[in-house]
Amino acid sequence: MSRLGPRGDLLPSVTTPVPGARGRDWVDALARSECPAFTARRKRRAEASGAPTDPIVWASALGANVEDVDGNVFVDFTSGFGVAAVGHRHPLVVAAITSQANKLIHGLGDVYPSDVKITLLERLAALGPWREARVILGLSGSDAVEAALKTAALATGRPGVIGFEGGYHGLAHGPLALCGYSEGFRRPFAAQLNPHARILPWPTEATALEDALGPVREQFRGHPSEWPGAVLVEPVQGRGGVRIPPRGFLAGLRELCTQHGALLIADEILTGLGRCGAWLLSTRETEPDLICIGKALGGGLPVSACLGEASVMASWGAPEGEALHTGTFFGHPLGAAAALAVLGVLADEDLAAIASSRGEQLATELRSRGLGRVRAVGMLVGLETGDAKRTLSLVRKLLEMGYLVLPAGADASVLQLVPPLNVSEQQVDGMIAALGAAMGVP
Ligand SMILES: Cc1ncc(COP(=O)(O)O)c(C=O)c1O
Repeated sequence: MSRLGPRGDLLPSVTTPVPGARGRDWVDALARSECPAFTARRKRRAEASGAPTDPIVWASALGANVEDVDGNVFVDFTSGFGVAAVGHRHPLVVAAITSQANKLIHGLGDVYPSDVKITLLERLAALGPWREARVILGLSGSDAVEAALKTAALATGRPGVIGFEGGYHGLAHGPLALCGYSEGFRRPFAAQLNPHARILPWPTEATALEDALGPVREQFRGHPSEWPGAVLVEPVQGRGGVRIPPRGFLAGLRELCTQHGALLIADEILTGLGRCGAWLLSTRETEPDLICIGKALGGGLPVSACLGEASVMASWGAPEGEALHTGTFFGHPLGAAAALAVLGVLADEDLAAIASSRGEQLATELRSRGLGRVRAVGMLVGLETGDAKRTLSLVRKLLEMGYLVLPAGADASVLQLVPPLNVSEQQVDGMIAALGAAMGVP
């Protein structure tokens, strides 16, 4: 019997050690079945935090709440990696999935498309900043970035791409080449990755704009045939530690791309769909050629999209023979129905505006309590802790108090707060109080 009331706006209730006895049994089963590297990684992290090695095991979730197999109730300040922006199991998303499941669960992709997939494509094409747009659907963030990288290669005929230190775009081979977040992810596969990828320094908010853009400008110095064909950028680096570039950086990249016939790809997989207080964060400052979205889009089902200006997307040409880019489950009817519901909820509940005001409140409160250096854009909030040990210890203490948070930054020196956009004020207040207690700040 779930303890998660009707709305998912509960404060935490942790009544067993975390994990409890049932959780430990599940984790034993996990260790017997999972690829060993994952289990070992958790063990290392737990050792670094000086805490027991086992994770909690999720059993159900609703709104901002998660219940584990031991019946403990948590408040989710991760949104499940940024996915549950409208909350876990939003009733309208569940209704849309249920209704679609009673009609059509699987279609025939781009051979015989489904009505719901076409409706989603129309809705997404209208989301971008362009007069006319086209869309490629995918299942993961990686898929969306792959589609964007392929589009850029076709449009420019140039294989080079610029990414940034600290940037994270997924781990399929295309985006992996630009994984500035950690060389460790790239190293074992280096020989298989795009040799024309370049990872450049990421500026801070305080970096002078010319200094921030200098290394990018440098890449366009040689013979034009050698110039990169695209720049791939997160408007704010999420996993990299909520790192905000100086104002004007995206617009500056846009200008350099335009001058040199390269495409600007905005990776809004985390920052988009309301998270940072706007439907799309990049378009506040500039107009990218391609925009990748994912995570929140499917409300928990795997749906992503690469949106592009129509003339750029036309570089895929007219279809002759085989489809150049397709996937069995791309445009999956259930995912499409869920995504349409999510887009409806985001609009009806005005969640971008709520993220903007509540995120501001959260950041102001954290700062005024002296809980550390805070970086925030809407409901993407990062708290500098100083080092990994401190972050991981806070993650553990908060878990024991019933708040789920994740470390961020390649060196895990940041605590990332990414709650559902409709998290209640009471839950936010509870988290701030718990954080204060965990840090020993009254
Ligand atoms: C900005 C950004 N891009 C891409 C991805 C990759 O998405 P996925 O894990 O769905 O492939 C992530 C995932 O964290 C992300 O934060």
